[in-house]
Amino acid sequence: MAVEKIYKEVQDYYGKDLKKTEDLKTNACLTPARPLPAFIREALECVLEEVSAKYYGCGLVVPECLEDCWILDLGCGSGRDCYMLSQLVGENGHITGIDMTEAQVEVAKKHIDYHMNKFGYKKPNVNFIHCYMEKLSEAGLKGECYNLVISNCVINLSPDKRAVLHEAYQMLKAGGEMYFSDVYANCDLPEDIRKHRVLWGECLAGALWWQDLYNIAKEVGFQPPRLVTASRITLGNKELENIVGNYQFVSATFRLFKISKDSTAQRCEVIYKGGITGHEKELEFDVNYRFKQGEIVDVDEETAAILQNSRFSAKFLIQPLGKKQPTPGRQKLKIGDPFKFVEQMEAKGTMKTPSGCCGPKGCC
Ligand SMILES: C[S@@+](CC[C@H](N)C(=O)[O-])C[C@H]1O[C@@H](n2cnc3c(N)ncnc32)[C@H](O)[C@@H]1O
Repeated sequence: MAVEKIYKEVQDYYGKDLKKTEDLKTNACLTPARPLPAFIREALECVLEEVSAKYYGCGLVVPECLEDCWILDLGCGSGRDCYMLSQLVGENGHITGIDMTEAQVEVAKKHIDYHMNKFGYKKPNVNFIHCYMEKLSEAGLKGECYNLVISNCVINLSPDKRAVLHEAYQMLKAGGEMYFSDVYANCDLPEDIRKHRVLWGECLAGALWWQDLYNIAKEVGFQPPRLVTASRITLGNKELENIVGNYQFVSATFRLFKISKDSTAQRCEVIYKGGITGHEKELEFDVNYRFKQGEIVDVDEETAAILQNSRFSAKFLIQPLGKKQPTPGRQKLKIGDPFKFVEQMEAKGTMKTPSGCCGPKGCC
């Protein structure tokens, strides 16, 4: 599909066709129901109903260690995640939301004063910009300014995913992180699915084959993606299920770090000091690493480089392993495939159900 046609159709979908979460035709754009920590639930409850009603995300984009962070939200829509995060970064942090659909940006902008008053801030710590995520520099955003780039169910809608990741990389400071949830397919999707307007708008037809995310991330300069969580998408729409056939989809959250090429790292023993808001006793970093406060964990070179060179460095004691052999039993097989992760969770019977969150079927 031509780029301009994709933009126009997606803008119409989110600006005109959909008025509220309940208008979605599949459950692809709904956050899997999972228990939320109280501090996130409370932050979400403070977001104005008119903003939350136009939420179309597929994950929870709340990375840890957010105090004072500068965050850029790609495809912020009506701004629900921006207003939630505005509370978590605090008055000295800042959130910029960008979106190409004017109607959504208008809703987001309209309620800045309401939220700042509600949060008791003297001046706004959010702003919203109407622009394309593939052209952030052209829109006047300054590079290397952000600690975090987030996105919730948006990148699948882009006709040029490489450009999105490249721009995100440019916007991040060294040691910064892209933390985003999106929809992925189990292989390259065929033309007839890719050209389906509703399936594209519903965040399915444009889904990347998950392995391509690893390729693009590497080309752009990121460390290999770290899988945070994933859940299976069942469309819940017979007509669209027939078109999609046997192709499978998951909603998955990945974290990608921008670590300087000069930073050499070796295997390390690390100890989480604790103290990150909401994760005081335990930090679930991704599906492979879980750090309990005070416990020694052997980490590989990549993980050591991330912990040493990102906002997490102050939260860990880090000691190179040197010639010491890794402790048996502390080694783990790494999972990077979100489909394999979902299968393992289903086999264990611990999969979260892919039902709606802040959508027609209830609210988290
Ligand atoms: C599924 S909605 C998610 C919105 C928001 N993240 C949320 O959680 O409610 C996708 C959003 O991405 C925006 N979008 C899609 N492609 C975009 C692009 N190339 N540049 C900027 N925004 C885009 C759409 O306008 C829409 O608001």
